[in-house]
Amino acid sequence: MSPRSTVALAVTGSIAAYKATLVARLLLKAGVRVVPVMTRSATEFLGPQTLSGITGEAVQLDMFDPSYAGERHVDLAARADVVVVVPATADLIARLAAGRADDLVSALCLCAKGPIVVAPAMHPRMWSHPATVRNVATLVGDRRVELVGPVFGEVASGEVGEGRLAEPEAIANAVLAKLHQAQSSPRSASTPLASKDLTGLRIVVTAGPTVEDIDPVRFVSNRSTGKMGFAIAEAAANRGATVRLVAGPVSLATPSSVERTDVRGALSMRDALWEHLGSDLSNADVLVMTAAVGDYRPEHLADAKLKRDDKPMTLSMVPNPDLLAEVGAARSGVRPVLIGFAVETDTDAQIVELARRKLENKRVDLIVANHAQDSFGRDDNRATLVERDRATSLGVLPKQELADRLLDRVLELAHRAEG
Ligand code: CTP
Repeated sequence: MSPRSTVALAVTGSIAAYKATLVARLLLKAGVRVVPVMTRSATEFLGPQTLSGITGEAVQLDMFDPSYAGERHVDLAARADVVVVVPATADLIARLAAGRADDLVSALCLCAKGPIVVAPAMHPRMWSHPATVRNVATLVGDRRVELVGPVFGEVASGEVGEGRLAEPEAIANAVLAKLHQAQSSPRSASTPLASKDLTGLRIVVTAGPTVEDIDPVRFVSNRSTGKMGFAIAEAAANRGATVRLVAGPVSLATPSSVERTDVRGALSMRDALWEHLGSDLSNADVLVMTAAVGDYRPEHLADAKLKRDDKPMTLSMVPNPDLLAEVGAARSGVRPVLIGFAVETDTDAQIVELARRKLENKRVDLIVANHAQDSFGRDDNRATLVERDRATSLGVLPKQELADRLLDRVLELAHRAEG
């Protein structure tokens, strides 16, 4: 990391405020200069002397100081390559979503020139309150902040739910990734979407349902429409990636500059997938499996239409291979970056846990977890990006927007895979 990199570490009033000191230490260890900023309520939880002692910088507290020549929020914003808010309270998130600038932390965020990483911490009921959900969706939709966490776990009250601050390592890593990205790529969080930041990346995307035939007129399938995968393929191609799309039966137009292969059942999707990846996986840098691959197929495909009978009918099904797990098992290094999707019908907390299990079982880097009722056939989606050390809830986003947010993270993971 360049020794001149400066991070403004903003702390707001939460019991988790003490963990800001751990994030500060990790950043300092990585060679970053850390400038601490606190809200007045943060000082109720953490002594400013502790933070200034650790960082070697005076804690900035107030917008107005007669002894200070200049505008403190503007000067701080000019110095900071990245602003990180840790922990971020529901109140701070509400003020950021409204574009308020009524204290130094909110004014700094409004004025920041580079990326802003926000690590929320609050009681799970506050995090799932419709007002907070709306504010988070606004912030994420504005593309001006990146959320890290909160994660599922025990919160200060002893209750368990989604609202616990992400681990300090995950927060520091997100900040370091932003600094790395700003140094190695011309694209920053505020650069418009048209940038070609994925140029050189070879991305394979699978999309839509698979269809498993029973006889010449009947089949077993699912409700996937392919919209999410097609949005990812389109966004990746717009951002300069070489994109190959493997599509189950869907009625969607092929995005421009995307090479499309149409398939029907899981076995034909598997063949197309390996053809694109190469038997040693060397032909792709990223695989995004949005396809809703059928887990079973009929044991026998009847040549002729099955005839009606008065007796009950049993259809014998055999398991399909798990295409993503096969690729995960075959990968020996960090390439290709592997992204899976998991559509579930459980609660928010359960889907993060289920996604983590799939992450481990399939040996992939990230699972996009969402609810069936929020995703199938819709133009928007409410998703959480689940990784080993973090879970980032993105709120409700149009699928195009979600595609871009996912690709932002894919780019960071691909950089990390480069070393
Ligand atoms: N997947 C796959 N091959 C399968 C089933 C799923 O490649 N036979 C991929 C999907 O494309 C998705 C991820 O695995 O990216 C998770 O799919 P999901 O259906 O949620 O997982 P399953 O392992 O099938 O678990 P379950 O259906 O029991 O929830």
